[in-house]
Amino acid sequence: MIVVGGSSSRDLSKELATLLNCKFVQASTTRFPDGECYTRIDTDSLDDDVTIVQNTYPDGNLVEMFLLQDAVKKMGARTVTLVIPYFGYARQDRVFKPGEPESAKVMARHLGIMCDRVITIDIHKESILDYFDCPHVDLKAAAAIAEYFKDKKIDKVLSPDVGAAGRAKDVADRMGVPYGYLDKTRLSGSEVKISEAKMDCEGQRILIVDDMISTGGTIVAAKQVLKEAGAESVSVACTHGVFVNNALERLTGNDLGAVLCCNTLENEVSNISVAEIIADAINRKW
Ligand code: R5P
Repeated sequence: MIVVGGSSSRDLSKELATLLNCKFVQASTTRFPDGECYTRIDTDSLDDDVTIVQNTYPDGNLVEMFLLQDAVKKMGARTVTLVIPYFGYARQDRVFKPGEPESAKVMARHLGIMCDRVITIDIHKESILDYFDCPHVDLKAAAAIAEYFKDKKIDKVLSPDVGAAGRAKDVADRMGVPYGYLDKTRLSGSEVKISEAKMDCEGQRILIVDDMISTGGTIVAAKQVLKEAGAESVSVACTHGVFVNNALERLTGNDLGAVLCCNTLENEVSNISVAEIIADAINRKW
């Protein structure tokens, strides 16, 4: 096995190769003066099973992934496994208004042309993976999040909405604490309304778990509601820290607690590693 790290996932790919005890090659990716992507895998041969670790977000990283797929094939890769820690366009998984494309399907179909296996982490909709004709699996970051917080004195794990309650339960069960969920209504792309917390939060140390933080609107509203409900502290963990615009500053400017995310997207708060979860999946026969 050889792990090739794309530019979006330098630390994660290196850690993965260490766990798999295999050769690691970091792709050298730059931009031409006109902005087009240039990438090169500087090694003699990739005559082995190759795993590429690269996000398909933002668009520049998607292009890099396409180029890496071609480059590893040309260097002799016997099989190609794509590890896509954060699968871009997953929220555009259907036609909401006539005339729109099925963006997630388009991406999966094109990425699937040159690969033998696909691994994603907490993809927005698992059904998107069915657009790949090869074996695929969506891994859950819950174990990594629970492991990180197990010694951090958390009384309860909450999800900001009922849709993500299963993830909160998974984390809570692993930590041996109760779980619950809040009631969220989306008002616009960046604004949400969260109703008054119906569970007891007085004096409690709460951990909010979500699949992603994008604008931060959800977490800002959830923290406010929990503060009003008397929570002693509110920590936040998500799988994908997208943090558009100044979302991270908006969130960490609040003094209630920490915001952390997994290293599916690498940034200054991506301290929770999913490398072990990916290594376990790669080592399984499937
Ligand atoms: C919603 O389906 C997701 O689980 C997240 O709660 C949402 O995408 C977060 O977005 P934002 O940070 O923009 O509120």
